[in-house]
Amino acid sequence: MDELMDDAQSADNGGTTRRTVLQLLGATAGITAVGMGEALAAHSEASDGDGGYALPPLPYAYDALEPAIDEQIMRLHHDEHHQGYVDGANDALDQLTEMRQNDQFDNIKSVKRDLSFNLSGHILHTVFWTSMSPDGGGSPSGSLADALARDFGSVDAAVDEFCAAAKNVESSGWGLLVYDHLADRLLVTQAESHNDLAVQGATPLLVLDVWEHAYYLQYTNDRGAYVDAFWDVVDWDAVGSRYEAVTGADILE
Ligand SMILES: [Fe+2]
Repeated sequence: MDELMDDAQSADNGGTTRRTVLQLLGATAGITAVGMGEALAAHSEASDGDGGYALPPLPYAYDALEPAIDEQIMRLHHDEHHQGYVDGANDALDQLTEMRQNDQFDNIKSVKRDLSFNLSGHILHTVFWTSMSPDGGGSPSGSLADALARDFGSVDAAVDEFCAAAKNVESSGWGLLVYDHLADRLLVTQAESHNDLAVQGATPLLVLDVWEHAYYLQYTNDRGAYVDAFWDVVDWDAVGSRYEAVTGADILE
């Protein structure tokens, strides 16, 4: 339960345009903005329009995902934890600005670690909120369904791998479905913390937060039940829009 209070701290202890925001969201993952899908457009409030970051509003009511995820969790998770990552990322930017102004970089290793942790947390939570919907559930369709079948053997096999990955993240982290631009394929990955085990250049399409703060108040230590309930609120349409927005982009050109 310690992480419920500590996770928004540093990694050491724990009117912009849509295109600009898309580039921002791709920065940590190493991608370039390539599309204006509706799901990605919802991220346009994740920056402050002045080179910094902002907490995007939750795209539905705090209690909208019940019974899968209850109101208290959503309120704390969005308003407190996600805000902490936004603040941490902006603080890291401010410290870097000060370092450049003073030509004094003695503390750069710590600040770069803070930036990676907090900005990755901000990006993943922004994708997380739009990976879910009160009208979610069901099955993927269209090109996303085709790609899941192509790259995993079947949609069910992809979901099974995602569940296994999410349930078995060591300590705090994430399960992710990502698009790898290099091989033009989907992969299921894990993240420990927010930024460890990252596949550079891969774009997160569907993410599931398995930090204790995401489920402990409702599910206590039964992470598996939380992961299983997640599929009742997954917004496959949003995931499909993200997939169509990034498919085929050559980020190494
Ligand atoms: Fe979280």
